Amino acid sequence: MLKPEEKEKLYEEVKALTDFSSEDVANLASLSGVMNKYSEPLSDYFYSHLHRVERTSTILNEEPGRTERLKATLMQWFENLFGGNYDMNYAKDILRIGSVHVVKKIDQRYVLSMYGMVFKFITSMIEKEFTGDTEKVEALTNSVGKILAIDMALMMETYIEGLVDSTGWSMTLLKNMASQSMDSRMQKELAS
Ligand code: HEM
Repeated sequence: MLKPEEKEKLYEEVKALTDFSSEDVANLASLSGVMNKYSEPLSDYFYSHLHRVERTSTILNEEPGRTERLKATLMQWFENLFGGNYDMNYAKDILRIGSVHVVKKIDQRYVLSMYGMVFKFITSMIEKEFTGDTEKVEALTNSVGKILAIDMALMMETYIEGLVDSTGWSMTLLKNMASQSMDSRMQKELAS
């Protein structure tokens, strides 16, 4: 498990890499009122989309009432995206949500793909709300892209953490093994 200081370090790195600034914080917070009215439509859209794909629909149907329960938690997550508070508690919450997906054995490709859907949804709502103000649409969309990238990076970290924890190996050993095995696979593919 990552130590608290490692979590802080990785969160700072991810924010630095996405160039997440106080301007982004202000942009996201300014969207809060507008976006809160879309949290339910987003949630409906999100789960109806997941129900269209066989595997994800099966996962949602594994427990009675799961979709309805998840709709409420997704709305909360969505509202926090525009909460304007991106301190360590924000990161911890996303890491916790990521861990729930690891525990529930949800393949990471499903989770990542849905970020694309969420981005598409938010972008079209921004365009709808601020039609004609191209500069604002661009600035807000840019900030949304950054916070979703940060969210995805944190979520994915939990999958790696899950692997590290389950093997009992160190992250360095696991990375070296992955590197060697992928390298030899690529060499074989190049040779064939
Ligand atoms: C943008 C991507 C996603 C986000 C932001 C998200 C968000 C969430 C949140 C906030 C929770 C509740 C965590 C908790 O507090 O316990 C959750 C749980 C869960 N999510 Fe997701 N999710 C995403 C993608 C997916 C996908 C693609 C699936 C596939 C079906 C999925 C299935 C589940 C399941 C099964 C749970 C646990 C439900 C339970 O407790 O019964 N999620 N998710």
